[in-house]
Amino acid sequence: MRLAFSHTSPAADEPAVPSLPRMTPPTRIHLARLPTPLERLDRLSAAWGGPTLWVKRDDLTGFGLSGNKVRKLEFHLAAAEAAGADTVITCGAAQSNHCRTTAIACARLGLAAHLVLRTADGTDPGHPGGNHLLDRLAGAVCRFVTPADYAHRDEIMAGVAADIAASGRRPWVIPEGASDGLGMWGFVVAMEELAAQLHQALPGVPATVWHAASSGATTAGMGWAADRAGMSHHLVACSVGDTIADLERRLATIWTEAAITVDGGALPRPSLELVDDHVGLGYGQTTAAEWETQAEVTRLTGLILDPTYTGKAIHGLKVEIAAGRFDRDDHVVFWHTGGGFAVFAATVPVAVLGQPD
Ligand SMILES: Cc1ncc(COP(=O)(O)O)c(C=O)c1O
Repeated sequence: MRLAFSHTSPAADEPAVPSLPRMTPPTRIHLARLPTPLERLDRLSAAWGGPTLWVKRDDLTGFGLSGNKVRKLEFHLAAAEAAGADTVITCGAAQSNHCRTTAIACARLGLAAHLVLRTADGTDPGHPGGNHLLDRLAGAVCRFVTPADYAHRDEIMAGVAADIAASGRRPWVIPEGASDGLGMWGFVVAMEELAAQLHQALPGVPATVWHAASSGATTAGMGWAADRAGMSHHLVACSVGDTIADLERRLATIWTEAAITVDGGALPRPSLELVDDHVGLGYGQTTAAEWETQAEVTRLTGLILDPTYTGKAIHGLKVEIAAGRFDRDDHVVFWHTGGGFAVFAATVPVAVLGQPD
């Protein structure tokens, strides 16, 4: 299933690199190494036989800070520091990239981190691996909850914040994925960064920008920026687990918050396409075909993906190329949103990864 919002046509007098004239981003601290590179993937394009493929390397925003989450945290942690907070509380799955990035960023800034992490049975996995190991190395306090309790994550984090405040410290809560009207700004700025790079690489050529979508602020920020600046690029948010209806609800909430805090309440109608045809077995579950695609991409590009987000999204892109969605002279940018540490927590039969020809 897919759903497309109406796309804004660029005005005749559109500047070469559209910018956001009436929008002043909130305060931000600089944690990510930016701009991340935009690279062409010639061998992958040839192998898949469709459009010219590019990659936006947000896997290179920093080592422990790699991925899309650091862009959102630049705004959240600036707000936390401005409020005089000394302890940051956030939540996610045990292998959450957002929680790992928060733990590392807090270590960098001298803040304490408290993570509410979801596991299948609500217990500590014991032997941490992947992102969870990095959380521990960075000194984050980890509290584990069941999926049923995680449904009440906002109340749980409010309770943790109250306990921390009662002990004389100053807590700051960041919602799941830093996906709200503030975190969205990370990807408003990011979309402007990509638009400038595309203008250099492909002047005047509209591209399709394909990315993995989950908690929503990555999509919300890109969509907002592209729409408000009248960019002619087409954005595709490839869900990694949720239905379009769920994703749409999240986006509406984020855009509403952003409109209230930034634009005096005017709700924008950002242009983008939502796709939920490629969720496979669901969030965090990986099919053999998805692993095969992930291995193929690494062999042909050297990029390291992750099974939950980027691996699933690029598999979706491959399926759509094979189905003839794009022409040969189209350009598609795959936004690599990071997540590579999660491969160290995955177990996969070697046979599934296939062999090069
Ligand atoms: C590697 C990676 N890519 C993409 C996403 C999706 O971003 P968002 O949650 O902003 O939709 C996430 C979110 O956890 C992620 O960790």
